[in-house]
Parts: sequence; C-alpha cells; structure tokens
Amino acid sequence: MGGEKKATIVEIGPRDGFQNVKEFIPTEIKSKVVHGLIQAGLTKIQLTSFISPKAIPQMRDAAQLCDEFISSFPNIDFSVLVPNAFGADRAVESGVKEINYVISVSEEHNMSNVRRSVTDSFADLASVREKYPDLIINLDASMSFGCPFQGEITCRQLDEYVKRAAEIGVDAVNLCDTIGVAVPSQVEDTLGRLFQSYPDMAFDIHIHDTRNMGILNSYVALQYGVRSVQTTLGGLGGCPFAPGASGNTATEDLVYMLNKMEWKTNVDFEKLMDVARFLKHNVNGNFSGHQVAI
Ligand code: COA
Ligand code: ZN
Repeated sequence: MGGEKKATIVEIGPRDGFQNVKEFIPTEIKSKVVHGLIQAGLTKIQLTSFISPKAIPQMRDAAQLCDEFISSFPNIDFSVLVPNAFGADRAVESGVKEINYVISVSEEHNMSNVRRSVTDSFADLASVREKYPDLIINLDASMSFGCPFQGEITCRQLDEYVKRAAEIGVDAVNLCDTIGVAVPSQVEDTLGRLFQSYPDMAFDIHIHDTRNMGILNSYVALQYGVRSVQTTLGGLGGCPFAPGASGNTATEDLVYMLNKMEWKTNVDFEKLMDVARFLKHNVNGNFSGHQVAI
C-alpha cells in the first residue's frame, strides 16, 4: 500500500480538558503540561479559550498563557477557542494567529453554549473574517453528529452549515462529536458526502469517547483523509454545556496505536505518558484515557 501514512494530531487538552475542571488549575501547572507536550513532539496545541470568565472561570488566565508561549515557540502552532467577535479581538491582541471559532450545528446547543442563534453567530464570524484576513480560522461545528437537545442532526442541516462556512471563507471545518454519539459508518458517510460536496474545504475531527468510539471514529476519519484529529491528553474533559458528554479521545491512546501501526505522528509515546501521568497527579478531573489508569 503506497506512501507513508501521516497523522496530524492537535492536542486540545489545555482547552477542552481543562475547561471541565471545576477547581482552578494553577497557571504553572498548565504551563508545565504545555511544555511537556512540546517536548513529547506535539506541534499543534490548543492553548486556552477567550471566553467570558463568568461562563468558565478556569480559562481566566488565557492572556497570561498566550504571553508565555506564543512568541517563545515560533515552531508550534498554538490555537485558541473563541465564541464571539469580542473573543477574537482579545485573542488577536494576545498574539494569537489561529482560532477555533465555535458555532453549534444545533440551534438549541448554540443558544446554551454561546447564547446566540446560529445565524447571529455566523454573522459575527463573517465580521471576524473580514476584520482579520490573515487570521487562520477553523470553525468548530459542535454537535455535528447528534445533539442532546435536538437529537438527530440531519444531513441537510450539516450540509447547509458547511455551505455557510465555505461562503465566509473559513480555513477548515472541525466536525465535533461533542457528546460522543457517532459510529464509524456515520463518520464515513458524513465525510464521504462532505468531501464530495466541498472538495476545497479542509475537515478536522473531534470525537468524545462517551461510548468508547473515540479511537475507532478518529481512526476512520484519519483513513478518510481529514486534515487533523483533535484529542486531549488523558482523555480529560466533557462539555460544560452539553449534559452527558465524557472526555475526548485520549491523545496517548491514539498515539500508541498509530505509532505501532507505523503512521508518522512525530510524537514520542513515552514522553507523552510522562506528561499524562503528571496531569493525572496534579489535576482533579475526569479522565477517560485507558493508559493513564494503568
Ligand atoms: N471574553 C471575555 N468576556 C466576554 C466575552 C469574551 N469572549 N464575550 C463577552 N464577554 C463579557 C462581556 O464583556 C460582558 O461583560 P460585563 O458583564 O462585565 O459587561 C459579559 O461577558 C456579557 O456579554 P455578552 O455579549 O452579553 O455575552 P453573554 O452573557 O451572552 O455570553 C459568551 C456569551 C459566549 C461570552 C458566554 O456564553 C461564554 O463565554 N460561553 C463559553 C462557551 C464555552 O467556552 N463553551 C465550551 C467550549 S465549546
Ligand atoms: Zn470537545
């Protein structure tokens, strides 16, 4: 079978994982984790989010983390999550070059998460695109595969969502299984359809491991040719605005499998496990990763 297989992993634990930890994690601990991730070979890291500290106080040190890391590590692609135009302004002021702008595919979840209609969120996103033409904007399509409020997400709904994203000119659409309901055939069908309809759009994948489908669905998506897969160290996380969601696919579980299958990840598994253990010892959260439990 021709060619080397390469997987781009985006570590989003410092955002998707930490945002679910109630007790404030000291910034030095967050910083040590990020340093460890860099040493383990990760080159794409979601550092934090620029959201309201009233909504999630855990993220209140966002600007501090950007100050510490962004200009000091020019070879690392740091992204941050933003929920609105104000968040994008704050991110750009902090030196951020890449954002993940979150808009749910489901109207109900968008309202619960960012307190806007989907249409208002897209209007905001269009203004951000116009204001910052050089900013890399990935669109986090929360609830792409199902929603605890709405139930099933129809093909048409997702298709229209991607159409709006393409019209605005985002750099990628990140298909997020925020509550972990997708199964491999659904991931395949969805990607097949979207790749065909939007051949110029890049797609990423983000799968929560609620039903033990994280690694399977992430692998299916990688084989299908997604640009990157998002994971969290230790499988830390959940979603504060989506009942029932467990953590993301664990970075170390995916890296273990891919390295053994001779996919190129550029991540050193042993070094990654050291950081995962450090995280587990220092952070009181929900870990769905299998190897941090050993
Ligand atoms: N960063 C910091 N503060 C922000 C902000 C941002 N991106 N957006 C709004 N605010 C502040 C406003 O300045 C205002 O502050 P004030 O009360 O001191 O005047 C306050 O929040 C309310 O502003 P408003 O625009 O009315 O926002 P809202 O109350 O409707 O909340 C969000 C909207 C999106 C800011 C808020 O729901 C949020 O941050 N949600 C977090 C979503 C999230 O991270 N989910 C998990 C990841 S998917
Ligand atoms: Zn998530």
